[in-house]
Amino acid sequence: MCGIVGYIGSREAWPIIIKGLQRLEYRGYDSAGAALLHNGDLKVIKKKGKVADLTAAAASWDVTAQQGIGHTRWATHGPPDDINAHPHTSGNKRLALVHNGIIENYALLKKALQKEGHVFEGQTDTEVLVHFIEELQVRENLPIEEAVRIALTRVTGAYAIVVMDRNDPGKIVAARKASPLVVGIGEDEFFLASDATPIVEHTKRVIYLNDEEIAIVRLGHEIEIRTIDNRMQTPFIQELDLEIEQLEKGGYEHFMLKEIFEQPETIADAMRGRLEPGEGWVRLGGLDDYLARITQAKRIIIAACGTSWHSALLGEYLIEELARIPVEVEYASELRYRNPILGEDDVVIAISQSGETADTLAAVELAREKGALVYGIVNVVGSSIARLTHCGSYIHAGPEIGVASTKAFTGQVTLLSLMALVLAHKRGTISESYFRRLLIELAEIPQKVSQVLESVQAKIEYIAGEIKDRSNAIYLGRGYNFPVALEGALKLKEISYIHAEGYPAAEMKHGPIALIDEHMPVIVIATNKSAYDKIVSNVQEVIARKGMVIAVVEEGDQIISKMADYVIEIPATEEPFTPLLSVVPLQLLSYHIAVMRGCDVDQPRNLAKSVTVE
Ligand code: G6P
Repeated sequence: MCGIVGYIGSREAWPIIIKGLQRLEYRGYDSAGAALLHNGDLKVIKKKGKVADLTAAAASWDVTAQQGIGHTRWATHGPPDDINAHPHTSGNKRLALVHNGIIENYALLKKALQKEGHVFEGQTDTEVLVHFIEELQVRENLPIEEAVRIALTRVTGAYAIVVMDRNDPGKIVAARKASPLVVGIGEDEFFLASDATPIVEHTKRVIYLNDEEIAIVRLGHEIEIRTIDNRMQTPFIQELDLEIEQLEKGGYEHFMLKEIFEQPETIADAMRGRLEPGEGWVRLGGLDDYLARITQAKRIIIAACGTSWHSALLGEYLIEELARIPVEVEYASELRYRNPILGEDDVVIAISQSGETADTLAAVELAREKGALVYGIVNVVGSSIARLTHCGSYIHAGPEIGVASTKAFTGQVTLLSLMALVLAHKRGTISESYFRRLLIELAEIPQKVSQVLESVQAKIEYIAGEIKDRSNAIYLGRGYNFPVALEGALKLKEISYIHAEGYPAAEMKHGPIALIDEHMPVIVIATNKSAYDKIVSNVQEVIARKGMVIAVVEEGDQIISKMADYVIEIPATEEPFTPLLSVVPLQLLSYHIAVMRGCDVDQPRNLAKSVTVE
């Protein structure tokens, strides 16, 4: 996490940096800062709080400069305060550096540097890195790019860094390993950023740096890229497929609401060109070359984190039921450290919205080392996971800016549904008629999501008002709706700070039932055709203990809708696709509760959208 921006050219750097930091604020928002280089003067302004606080703090400053770097932080080492905010400067105040990632051997380096007389103001690993670069630069009288290069050969961990040297104006040096960094190429101007969103309004020509590459951008020169072991690289310039409108709220009060309402379109985009129910085919280009290996896999392991892990769980239900291949779902953070049994007969699917989550990325690396085939389901085009996997499919949901994931979740589930259908058809594990029925039904989902969005809003706002002051909630679901219960509970926790648990409905009696009384709202997702009677019993168990029941049911439901305190109806669909509809009211419920509680919906406390630390 943490967002980085840099600019060098003939325009004023400050507005470009501030606008860029606002675009990147989803990556971290506990403090922000910038360094500007102008006429031999290196000015650093930094502030605890959001980018708006930085802007306010700088109101009385002269921010004239055509060269600068900026940062928005999500604290790892040292509390979020003015001192630990980036940029960090060297002891001689010659260098300013911003960093995303973690320098793991910083403690050892710090001790060694302290022996050499370096004095540190804060607790960050980043401050140690800039002092280390300074030490090498001064000792050997090196140009900044060389000092950076040598320093990076001696640090362990993850970094995207951008550095300026007061004594070497007109130049910015950047480097990356395991944290993303993009360079935008304009007309004799360069932009640097953690992702393309701050760049797209200035230029569409970008270079995604690879791991252990250093970029040197200089006014009046072409970009130069080297590896940290000093091999020159040929820059690969790509054209961005991103429009500025996708980064704006488009009339909605929050990005999260906009993204919830985009789902009919984004689900359709995830299916575009991949499904033709009339002709009876489904295809995923990313699978084509590896289809034989995947259909014959002994086992599929799906690795992910957060909301993407919930999609993974649905992937298990879909692939096992339809394609009859054994699937295991793993938290990426657990998989990577437990010496898992993985080999050439296994297929690992990595799911990630950002494509940058550190644990998922590490799980991909591990799976590759062990010889497994790795397939990526990713949203951000060109991201690290997308590039590291052997094959994969993008979900094409467009930029997701609200920290709580919504449209990426339904995009991932759509992709997994397509994948299960491709595999099932190839393996002949479902009948042709059922296959055809599923294709037709999947193609109908975008329109049914629109129907949900149109019909449930008012009801959900009312229910949100009724439960907004509760301190706990339980979400229950069976089968395909169990992962939806987990996702509903996560959404509520993330943005409204109400404690919530998701449970398989039948598991409730093994613990959570002890929590149920008249103060406990219980959200039951009860659209299942199979096991419906069992869910009825579960609802009865809640009612017997005076819990408040909010039920999500299929249109025309006759039993649970008469038992529940509040009922939300959604259209009927084939059971494997139910989550694509049943999750939508839960997203809206969390959203409205969070708004009513005055929470910062798009930037909930302590969270970040892209978690590039372990
Ligand atoms: C963070 C975000 C979650 C997200 C998770 C995994 O925790 O706040 O919304 O689900 O990371 O992110 P990924 O980009 O890998 O899907």
